[in-house]
Amino acid sequence: MSAYNFLNANFTEQLSTQSDEPLVIPVFGNKTFAKQAKTLDRDLAGLLTRNATLSSKFSAAPGQTLAIATPEGSAHDKIILLGMGDAKNINAASIDSAAHGLSAALSDLGATNATILGETISGLPVKAEELYASIAAATHEQAYTFNKYKTQKIQKLDDTIPTLNFVVKKPTAAEQHYNALTIISEGKMLAQDLGNEPPNVLYPESYALRVKDLLEPLGVEVDIIDVHGMNHLGMHAALAVGESAGAKPCMVVMKYDGRSDKDKKNGKNSAPLSFVGKGITMDTGGYNIKTRAMGKMKLDMCGSASVVGAMYTLAKQKSNANLVSIVGLAENRISESAYLPSAIIDSMAGFTIEVGNTDAEGRLVLADAITYMKRTYKPHTIIDLATLTGACIQAHGHDKAGFFTNTKSLVKAFQKAADNTGEAIAHDPIEEKHIRAMDGELADLTNSCNSPDQDILRAGHITAAAFLKHFAEQGSKTKWAHIDIAGTAIPPSGMASGWGVKLLTDFANTQAAPAPAPKKAKTPAPKP
Ligand code: BES
Ligand code: MN
Ligand code: ZN
Repeated sequence: MSAYNFLNANFTEQLSTQSDEPLVIPVFGNKTFAKQAKTLDRDLAGLLTRNATLSSKFSAAPGQTLAIATPEGSAHDKIILLGMGDAKNINAASIDSAAHGLSAALSDLGATNATILGETISGLPVKAEELYASIAAATHEQAYTFNKYKTQKIQKLDDTIPTLNFVVKKPTAAEQHYNALTIISEGKMLAQDLGNEPPNVLYPESYALRVKDLLEPLGVEVDIIDVHGMNHLGMHAALAVGESAGAKPCMVVMKYDGRSDKDKKNGKNSAPLSFVGKGITMDTGGYNIKTRAMGKMKLDMCGSASVVGAMYTLAKQKSNANLVSIVGLAENRISESAYLPSAIIDSMAGFTIEVGNTDAEGRLVLADAITYMKRTYKPHTIIDLATLTGACIQAHGHDKAGFFTNTKSLVKAFQKAADNTGEAIAHDPIEEKHIRAMDGELADLTNSCNSPDQDILRAGHITAAAFLKHFAEQGSKTKWAHIDIAGTAIPPSGMASGWGVKLLTDFANTQAAPAPAPKKAKTPAPKP
């Protein structure tokens, strides 16, 4: 059972002959109907195809809908044509659009329940049961709400959970797919819940305890490094940020090893994959106080939330991956102990850092988290997620995250994960000029470049990545990617999106999947 229930999805084999629910009929590219839909159309004397052809607004693009009233006495009083786009182009993004269109059409009709004719058509890249399970999961995810602080409305919302009845050839298989997808949805919604919590409820210490509660029952080892531990380790960059607040900072380490006993014994994949997340539970900017959009900055921990959500999903999936992740949790505030602009601070890696701007705090926390991870667990790859820069939103908007790496093969791997999940990325190369821009004047590095070059100033997302690269490569080069989710995790609505859970989960599972068996030699072996 999922911890989240925003939708009841049922899968059945038979289309009921009489129902007051709207019947949803998927229509593919070129307004193509599948087999059973064609039969229904014939029974209705061509009503469906006629409407589809005549409508100039309905081209069957993903998520477009057309509501059609049926004649008195028909099996269904309302039929909704649901655009799916070209069968061969169906992917995570078009499935999301279809789910959006479906929910919107139902709410236009004032309906909470519907039957979906889950037919397949030639050219579909996935099986019908996978497609409709994915539409169900996407609809469920889109129905997410965060209402725990609404004392009056909970009862009402519980009563209005929509029910979708999918009619498919293989209902058991579809349900199995749906249940598997639910584990991913749960991780995403968990990340959304963490993001949406207000900063007076979710601050570093309470957050760390919540991570323990969430992950330990799934077999994830959770260790908290408190202020004393951080001091002992020399995490002075992260401490400089966190000591601005009454709520003390901490780091949370999460270990999950899903390898088989045999792989463990043989030392296969003994170096883990590592996720690192920025967890600023409130970013006021510090003394360089924010002059705009401070209200959204409780969401400045969404990188960490996605790491926690991905760890949750991977552990619940019993993934084969070997993972060690860390989130750096802190508030960035103003107080007598707050760090000052132009202060020179130390870091665990040994680099000294000039504080060019107290609002460039995320990279300071990440720097120490990355160093600790490298030194303690020697991961083969580090992926960090952070709501790091406003510049990234300027450059890529809210639909694509910024992607930066020191390893070419990670671009390809993440492009693939992005295609699989619909969580899109834009790759920005880090150039020498971006690295030089982060040289300090009095110290080794600065946390905020002050270049006269307008191009460099506009590239604040790339220079931030260049800063982190120093830490990923200190001592020895570790394969590393940084994903700036400032725009994707924090949509204009201000509700956490949970962006990144799917991407990280997909990437980790691809890494952990056993390599395909070597191909047999093509030339036959010579006869003895
Ligand atoms: N958390 C912010 C980045 C951010 C801004 C995320 C808006 C989501 C929406 C980050 O800590 C920050 O303040 N970055 C500064 C960096 C600058 C001072 C070098 C920025 O982007 O302005
Ligand atoms: Mn900031
Ligand atoms: Zn921040």
